[in-house]
Amino acid sequence: MGLKTTLKVCLGTAFTVFAISATSVSAHAEGKMASPQLLVSNCFNCHGYMGDSAGVIDELSSLPERRIVKKMVDFKSGEKPSTIMSRIAKGYSDSEIEAMAKYLAAANAK
Ligand code: HEC
Repeated sequence: MGLKTTLKVCLGTAFTVFAISATSVSAHAEGKMASPQLLVSNCFNCHGYMGDSAGVIDELSSLPERRIVKKMVDFKSGEKPSTIMSRIAKGYSDSEIEAMAKYLAAANAK
């Protein structure tokens, strides 16, 4: 493969990656997102199933919906210092955060 061909292949790959990420961003904008159950399942490794932590990491199951949203938003902006949560919070849109908080709080309101 000559240099020109290699360059074309690289540019083609870069464009495809760009096109795919642009599509997922617009999916956010249209309000399409994974179900809240699927989104919060990412939290359970550290915070315990349904946020009912058995270990040293804060439990989420006792927090009301708006507290979860506030903390996530503050982690995301960096207003609330953290070791890991700022990076995790940045992975979610505001509507995903709201949906997760609503789901967790409702499931734990017993
Ligand atoms: C890798 C482990 C890990 C994962 C995964 C994780 N967290 Fe956390 N979470 C932490 C730690 C550790 C803290 C304490 C703050 C810090 O140092 O980051 C915390 C703190 C929090 C707090 C603040 C609790 C309080 O009472 O102050 C909330 C809310 C929270 N996490 C929500 C979530 C949500 C929602 C998810 C899933 C999207 C999630 N976390 C995923 C480790 C994790």
